[in-house]
Amino acid sequence: MIRKLCERLLRCCCRKRGFRYKVALFIVGIVITFYLFIIILNVIENNLEEEQPIFHVYQGEPKDEKLPIIIWWTPFTGDTGSFKQCGQHTCYFTDQRKYISDSRTRAFLFYGSDFKPTDLPLPRSPSHDWGLLHEESPKNNFLFSMEKVMQLFNHTATFRRESDLPLTFQYLESLESLTSKKYFVPTTEKNEKGKILAPLVYLHSDCNTPSERDSYVEELAKYIRVDSYGKCLQNKQLPAHLSDPMKTMVSHEIFSLLSQYKFNIAFENAVCQDYITEKLWRPLTVGSVPIYFGSPRVEDWLPNLQSAILVRNFESPKKLAEYLLKLQADDAAYEQHLEHKIRGQISNKKLIDAMNDREWGINNDQSKKNFIDCFECLVCKRVAENYKRELRNSSPLKFQATLHHYGCPKPVGNFTLKEDSQNWWPELYDKAVYEAQAMENLMQRGTNYTSTDFYQEVINLLENSAVR
Ligand SMILES: *[C@@H]1O[C@H](CO)[C@@H](O)[C@H](O)[C@H]1NC(C)=O
Ligand SMILES: *[C@@H]1O[C@H](CO)[C@@H](O)[C@H](O)[C@H]1NC(C)=O
Ligand SMILES: *[C@@H]1O[C@H](CO)[C@@H](O)[C@H](O)[C@H]1NC(C)=O
Repeated sequence: MIRKLCERLLRCCCRKRGFRYKVALFIVGIVITFYLFIIILNVIENNLEEEQPIFHVYQGEPKDEKLPIIIWWTPFTGDTGSFKQCGQHTCYFTDQRKYISDSRTRAFLFYGSDFKPTDLPLPRSPSHDWGLLHEESPKNNFLFSMEKVMQLFNHTATFRRESDLPLTFQYLESLESLTSKKYFVPTTEKNEKGKILAPLVYLHSDCNTPSERDSYVEELAKYIRVDSYGKCLQNKQLPAHLSDPMKTMVSHEIFSLLSQYKFNIAFENAVCQDYITEKLWRPLTVGSVPIYFGSPRVEDWLPNLQSAILVRNFESPKKLAEYLLKLQADDAAYEQHLEHKIRGQISNKKLIDAMNDREWGINNDQSKKNFIDCFECLVCKRVAENYKRELRNSSPLKFQATLHHYGCPKPVGNFTLKEDSQNWWPELYDKAVYEAQAMENLMQRGTNYTSTDFYQEVINLLENSAVR
């Protein structure tokens, strides 16, 4: 039966050979064009999905009755009101507090350094999520070192790898910048310059810090020469046009200056997991070896095991100086710390993966969004999804921050290792312990409270603890 059918079909087409070929060619041509068209359409569609609708901003008033509203409680973006489309979800972002009573309001966002326990959107409704964005130094606000406070948040973007949108690499431009020889000065040239320059450079202008870094450098400088250009322990002058640290932190001239030194002292102003700044990435980028103190797990993110010399591996500043002087006289040993530049090699897969996964860019990287946009979209997607679930009466997804999304340790004088009456940081940290408790007590009442209420509560707690 099938055979017969085939034969008949063939016969029909075989009658005119030339014609059959033309028809076949025509059909094949159409099929190929059709598939090409589909592929092109797909590519365009994917691109649209990847690029445009994922992040699309437009102005207007929120008229849609089912549109989630997200309020920046601590004004931060200067955005008085705009729609942001994130993938298939859209939210209305605003810093206008009047929307607090709008039934569509689903989240409040806080910028960490501006978060005040006396200025909160209270009483908090069960549908009010809180989001925390904080990439700055933990010394700016010790409240986030308290579990009670971190548990108030549902969504986080902090320097900690455990946060919802980790900002650990906020100062690392790209993997390529680590291997690029743009600023790199070869060892022989550094030896030549070393007849004038010290082996170490120090460029810090924030001199009273929880990490007490200056006291360590002071001690270190007794055993090895340090050129210090910043306001702290200054012994060398920067050219006038480079002297504002905020403006020149990532400038070409500063990079060139630092690249001439064999070692850069890279001490963070506060110690916390994954709080890693340009102090580390700048020397790694220019090809000088960082002498690092800061994040206790920094080795997780170094390009190669020996890419930084870690202060905590040395018993004392004197021992560290002895090691540096040894490297100073042994080029091969010194260069083992520079494999990312000399061999263009990054062996740390964790770092490679983390940077490849990073959605956002820095230094006005036009090919990527910045981390503020990414955080807004993360919150938008989550609350919009929950809003939809709420409207069809299904249970919401849970989002809950923990201490590990921030949680920095109490600052102690790790370098001096003695009582330091000049250092007020531990005291500030202790104060935050009581403030966190006062916040919890007052919020449990389920009403708004005044700053007088708050400070009275802190005093009560302090007095009670003194009695105990
Ligand atoms: C809370 O109370 C303070 C002072 O009583 C007031 O200024 C503020 O607007 C109130 N906040 C809210 C969210 O109601
Ligand atoms: C947000 O956090 C609060 C406080 O921990 C919690 O009560 C609420 O259920 C959380 N919301 C979601 C959507 O998980
Ligand atoms: C600082 O000193 C304390 C107490 O000696 C120690 O527990 C902690 O690990 C030290 N921190 C760092 C980052 O070295």
